Amino acid sequence: MRTQVGIVGAGPAGLLLSHLLALRGIDSIVVEDRSRAYCEARQRAGVLEHGSVRLLREAGLAARLDQEGIEHGGIYLQFAGERHHIDFRDLTGGRTVTVWAQTEVVKDLIAERLRAGGAIEFDVTDTTVEHLETDRPVLGYTSADGTRHEVICDAIAGCDGFHGICREAIPARLRTVTEREYPYAWLGILADVRPSTDELIYSHHERGFALHSLRGPTVSRLYLQVRPDEPIGEWPDERVWDELARRFELPGWELKTGPVLEKGITPMRSFVSAPMRHGRLFLAGDAAHIVPPTGAKGLNLAFADVAVLAPALDALLHGDPGPAGAYSATCLDRVWRCTHFSWWMTTMLHRTPGADAMEARLQLSQLRYVATSRAAATSLAENYTGYPELPAKVSRSARTSPAPGGNFKI
Ligand code: FAD
Ligand code: PHB
Repeated sequence: MRTQVGIVGAGPAGLLLSHLLALRGIDSIVVEDRSRAYCEARQRAGVLEHGSVRLLREAGLAARLDQEGIEHGGIYLQFAGERHHIDFRDLTGGRTVTVWAQTEVVKDLIAERLRAGGAIEFDVTDTTVEHLETDRPVLGYTSADGTRHEVICDAIAGCDGFHGICREAIPARLRTVTEREYPYAWLGILADVRPSTDELIYSHHERGFALHSLRGPTVSRLYLQVRPDEPIGEWPDERVWDELARRFELPGWELKTGPVLEKGITPMRSFVSAPMRHGRLFLAGDAAHIVPPTGAKGLNLAFADVAVLAPALDALLHGDPGPAGAYSATCLDRVWRCTHFSWWMTTMLHRTPGADAMEARLQLSQLRYVATSRAAATSLAENYTGYPELPAKVSRSARTSPAPGGNFKI
């Protein structure tokens, strides 16, 4: 079998890449080791940057997002019993973010790829990527019916998340990993209750960090800082609500409670593996980098990578290796900006176990500076809404001729 780009992973990175390539007339196959239902139900990120929304609109993927997504013009920062609004529109010249769940992004992407006749193989096993240093790399997998497939490609995109196989296919001596684990985790709940706030609340509290987010007019998403080894069994729903109420407590404001639909614990880490390219293998999204979720960057970074990768592969397949050569460095600039911002938000807002009085006072001073200085608030707003700007034109290509060797059907 033959295709132009073999894509490992049907998460946001792999699916959006396959769509952006299709807009450029480039064939791909996406292989995914989970079921379609699992991919569509996996609860993860919820906030899209200004540039991610624009990218989805340009790519013709924003019909539901524009109807049902909730535009937010800022966030609240809470500390020392005070709640301060950080007004993104005012601070950034009109930029906003949009609350639109990753589950919905993934559903729309899968539906659109299948509608357009795109190839997605769910429930595969034994994925392999080989001959990466040649210009005919091979993607291998066993499909759900037990048949083994070897697909000869022009390039392979490793969009298989943090636990995938593609990063490990790059020889260890050629990779540099920079990593930090944080001494806390997030316990997240999805709850069937109207959000108690119009915009997200990031609360720094002496009992630990808490975040109030949402998924729609009647569904809330809330998080609590917990120990990384915390057994979830120690957190019955009532205890979660009590703890959330304490960490968001403010005179005159009340946290609405409701049935908990889902509950889970997520570890927090910063991780960057460089370079993001080896021969004809290109890594994108969580396969190459992880950020703690406090800056709401993970999904947005995955989108930013593939916005750079699609035109780079288009150029490579048409004989111009320049943009593919620059791919890793271009993406890593943004990855490191987001890694810094996510680390900064995380360490400013969480309680470090065993921290001394100096650290606690420094955190409060930093929070007060952000809440009172326009310069400091602008820095937060600029990073949160997305910095640097995504490239202006990210989808359709002016090219009309198919890439040489292209348009083979699987
Ligand atoms: P993924 O979404 O991980 O997709 C990778 C896909 O590859 C998966 O579908 C996986 O099944 C598949 N795969 C893996 N191995 C193979 C293989 N061998 N063969 C075939 N397929 C394979 N970000 C935020 O901004 N806010 C949040 O609140 C937030 N919460 C998170 C909670 C959790 C539990 C996790 C894990 C991440 C969270 N993130 C959050 C991060 C965000 O969801 C990710 O950054 C985003 O999903 C990255 O997309 P991706 O496509 O790169 O990777
Ligand atoms: C979410 O809605 O899941 C969410 C929002 C903001 C974050 C992290 C997660 O910083």
